[in-house]
Amino acid sequence: MINTETILVTGGAGFIGANFIHFALKNRPNWQIVNLDLLTYAGNLISLATLPVEHRSRHTFVHGDIRNTDLLARLFQQHAFAGVIHFAAESHVDRSIRGPQVFVDTNVGGTCTLLQASLDAWQERGRPADFRFHHVSTDEVYGSLGLTGAFTEQSPYDPSSPYSASKAASDHFVRAYGRTYDLPFVITNCSNNFGPYQFPEKLIPLMICNILAEKPLPVYGNGENIRDWLYVLDHCSALLRVFEKGTAGQTYNIGGGTEQSNIDIVRQLCKIMDKKLGRTAGASESLIAFVTDRPGHDFRYAIDAAKIKEELDWQPQYSFAEALRNTVDWYLANMAWVDSVRSGTYRQWLELNYDKR
Ligand code: NAD
Ligand code: TYD
Repeated sequence: MINTETILVTGGAGFIGANFIHFALKNRPNWQIVNLDLLTYAGNLISLATLPVEHRSRHTFVHGDIRNTDLLARLFQQHAFAGVIHFAAESHVDRSIRGPQVFVDTNVGGTCTLLQASLDAWQERGRPADFRFHHVSTDEVYGSLGLTGAFTEQSPYDPSSPYSASKAASDHFVRAYGRTYDLPFVITNCSNNFGPYQFPEKLIPLMICNILAEKPLPVYGNGENIRDWLYVLDHCSALLRVFEKGTAGQTYNIGGGTEQSNIDIVRQLCKIMDKKLGRTAGASESLIAFVTDRPGHDFRYAIDAAKIKEELDWQPQYSFAEALRNTVDWYLANMAWVDSVRSGTYRQWLELNYDKR
């Protein structure tokens, strides 16, 4: 007899959330997932249409907003959730620069509404010690590094963009609910992800799509900014490990230890794709266009992942090179997915963000 656990996942139609649902349903046959997602421009159910038939009955989609108190109360009444894994957010730094308010509303307000609904249900159910509120957060809360060093769980918060400020605020609220009301939580702060189902506004999928279409490749500033990249499936395995084995009240940094400058990534993508598309060597690199820098652009992110590695025995499984090739292959095979997530509003965004840079 399988002991079924029902988990509330928010934002499960977005990039990491959808990958996590695929991963968790495959690896945890006793899980039932209720997936609450507003289906903003960044969320699309076709990312879950590929769930194997035998896993689908364990996934229930609820179209709704994490800011909707009544909806959350109903969901917590209908299900005795073993935990909440909270992905839902506005996630794109450039959009936060153009319009910060929705980042405050969703990332801060929405997280608080979800925390309160979780707390109410947790208290009503007699405060089960094994409940977990897992907040999925970013390394961007720590601000920018110089050429050396890496973020640890003790690094001070110093966010630069409206996006990272909103994620920092939401992290603080999660900790406050832990300290004030004893709500059992874990927080993970992860570095830049890449892989299948990532909305093509982020660096890697944007470049893949532009290389394919032979459009300019907009590199911000001099392209020397550095990010610590992690394949999304490695993030998923880390999330599952922390959700199940992490100590309540703790924070875990997650990163792949793969630092790359933006320009190096773009050049690698050009090389891989020239080969795959049968283009002359160097053809795609000629599309690189250095454009006006992002305001407040953090120079470097790097994660010290010693805590999750030592305490929870987690290791990334994919090399950066292999994961980048997998990602290119996935996009080339799934341009129908790209076309269907690119709505009219996305095209307006491209004009707004890139035309006059
Ligand atoms: P995404 O933008 O691809 O997906 C966000 C999802 O949240 C979408 O499905 C969207 O419809 C949903 N959503 C937005 N507002 C909502 C609301 N009010 N109610 C319900 N659903 C709503 O984001 P992602 O890249 O998958 O990131 C997921 C989480 O991981 C975010 O919290 C992000 O801050 C964090 N994170 C992302 C990265 C990364 O590299 N992408 C790295 C570290 C942490
Ligand atoms: P992004 O994918 O937006 O992630 P984040 O800002 O959360 O790290 O950007 C990754 C890096 O790539 C960042 O340094 C900004 C840069 N970048 C470009 O140079 N050109 C682009 O068109 C985009 C979207 C990003």
